[in-house]
Amino acid sequence: MGIKPPDSMNPFIQLAQWISEERLAGIPFSHGAVLGTVGHDGIPRTRMLGVHFDEESIPRFHTSPTSRKVTDIGINQNASITFAFQRSLRSVSIEGVLEVIPHGQLVSDWLALDQKFRRSYLVFGHRSGQPADSDVSLEHLLKELSPGSENEMPPSFIGYRFSHVSRIAFYSVGSGNFAEHVVFSRDGGGENWLYSRVVP
Ligand SMILES: Cc1cc2nc3c(=O)[nH]c(=O)nc-3n(C[C@H](O)[C@H](O)[C@H](O)COP(=O)(O)O)c2cc1C
Repeated sequence: MGIKPPDSMNPFIQLAQWISEERLAGIPFSHGAVLGTVGHDGIPRTRMLGVHFDEESIPRFHTSPTSRKVTDIGINQNASITFAFQRSLRSVSIEGVLEVIPHGQLVSDWLALDQKFRRSYLVFGHRSGQPADSDVSLEHLLKELSPGSENEMPPSFIGYRFSHVSRIAFYSVGSGNFAEHVVFSRDGGGENWLYSRVVP
């Protein structure tokens, strides 16, 4: 059984801190995580992606509608992401339920992206996952793009955020004899976090 953590122990603040410490240790993509989904066939699928956080520290990510993860999430909204902090030998695993990112948030996320990436995305976003050996040259299509077209978000830019997080596990391999493993889970009412230290 878990105990209620002190108010100062917010797992999302702890996660933000670990991401920041990993970045300061020289890892530029410290907000990268592996997303696990399960589709209609019950087979798990994982892939790496960039994770961002809103003001309430809710994790979200962006993707393209033609990818396999979108098919999976359309059928089963349960998902898990794991941050593998290799420099600091730490990991954080989150389990919960996904929902689509609201349009307004998506538009501001699009405009916050690097201009060069937005232009590339206009070319590859709606083709992601399709065979690349067709006669469509992505470089050619990129050159054909009209100036400023990246200022409008394309329908191929979509994303998901956690509508509910049921469990967050922090694991840290330090210099001691034993690693530390701390698990946050929701209490019966789903309002508060319960916290337990578990044997590593
Ligand atoms: C550094 C890095 C960052 C990535 N970021 C994203 C991302 O933010 N969103 C995304 O959909 N795919 C991203 N990818 C590609 C995915 O790992 C994956 O190959 C792709 O989304 C197709 O996955 P799926 O077919 O399982 O859906 C990234 C890959 C790498 C190596």
